[in-house]
Amino acid sequence: MNSREIQPKPTRPRVLSGMRPTGAMHLGHYHGALKNWVRLQEDYDSFFFVADWHALTTHYADRGVMERYVYDMVTDWLAAGLDPERCTIFVQSRLPEHAELFTLLAMGTPLGWLERVPTYKDQIDKLKDRDLATYGFLGYPLLQAADILIYRAAYVPVGEDQSSHVELTREVARRFNHLYGRPGDFEAKVAAAIAKLPKDDARYFEKQRKAYGESGRSEALVKGEGMVAKSAVNISGWTSDDSELLLGHLKGSGKTILVEPQALHTEVKKLPGLDGEKMSKSYGNAIAMREEPAVVRQKIQTMRTDPARARRSDPGNPERCPVWQFHQVYSSPEIKDWVVKGCTSAGIGCLECKQPVIDAIIAEQRPWRERAEQYLANPKQVHWIVEMGTERARTVAKQTMRDVRDAMGLTY
Ligand code: TRP
Ligand code: SF4
Repeated sequence: MNSREIQPKPTRPRVLSGMRPTGAMHLGHYHGALKNWVRLQEDYDSFFFVADWHALTTHYADRGVMERYVYDMVTDWLAAGLDPERCTIFVQSRLPEHAELFTLLAMGTPLGWLERVPTYKDQIDKLKDRDLATYGFLGYPLLQAADILIYRAAYVPVGEDQSSHVELTREVARRFNHLYGRPGDFEAKVAAAIAKLPKDDARYFEKQRKAYGESGRSEALVKGEGMVAKSAVNISGWTSDDSELLLGHLKGSGKTILVEPQALHTEVKKLPGLDGEKMSKSYGNAIAMREEPAVVRQKIQTMRTDPARARRSDPGNPERCPVWQFHQVYSSPEIKDWVVKGCTSAGIGCLECKQPVIDAIIAEQRPWRERAEQYLANPKQVHWIVEMGTERARTVAKQTMRDVRDAMGLTY
């Protein structure tokens, strides 16, 4: 790897996502998120991080396993095909800037915004065995907001369950820009930028701004934005600062210091666990990404099937069988057709039906195993990749924090 190749490509829109360190990844993680990340790194300036502080919000007493969990997880990210030359891989706790932004955002974030996040009550109900009446647990979506905003990410690839966190992030950014995006000289600078416009354009722009401010009509916003875009091309001496000022003025939001991100929900084929429930290591229904082929075979062969098929001669219904959900992820239309016909007519046995799934999983795992071997033989390489990514992330995080401190008047 030479250092020129690993520069981030800032012209591509940025995506950011994180995962809690849970150790070696399983197929549910791969199909639910990782596979998508591997695709995203081709088209986006991709930042992927280990959310180790987030793990502490629910597992604050588990010292001792975290280090292994972090590196096992990153090893699987690399095994799956995340390429450190295409994306930035880092660890949250190595960047105290996340904590600083979290603290600053916490000052102005109403408690109700956090109490209303749907995952808050859900998780408290679900994880009854843990004491989650903590400050950290309530605040964790705000920590997530800080994770996202500090990189000025345009998109956040997350599951539907995390939509409310991205929504909160947007509200937090909007409020921040509203509170701090209008420094003392903002109005004067806006006036100076407007003075660069031809008279008619200036009048048109102000008309759209008023219309948008009064009615919130998006056509007015679009027209105003169009005018700014046109001016950026046509007016000599126009600067990107001018554009930014006028866009802030137009929206009534001031300068954009923190960027409102968008959730990126990509169509993923969900893979359940061996019992048809959500795949999870703690439910004992998981297949690890680097599971031995013999174990994969044994796990699939002993998977439960449609209970109606007690005997080979009993016809079954794929809809009642978790193996069928594996076929949805792994099998071609022809094989799926063969399953439906064979199952409902008792033409095939369940072991026969499972074979293509076993073959597909083992084939899918082969390149992961090969890549992982190289990293497992040389753990220093994984550390080095994380180190490099962390430093790259730090450059971005530091810049945002300079802007944030400056906007908040904290540069004395
Ligand atoms: N909260 C996410 C989860 O539990 C992990 C996460 C933390 C995250 N920070 C993030 C995801 C920022 C996307 C962006 O899965
Ligand atoms: Fe399930 Fe296949 Fe058996 Fe039908 S034949 S019950 S789909 S394993």
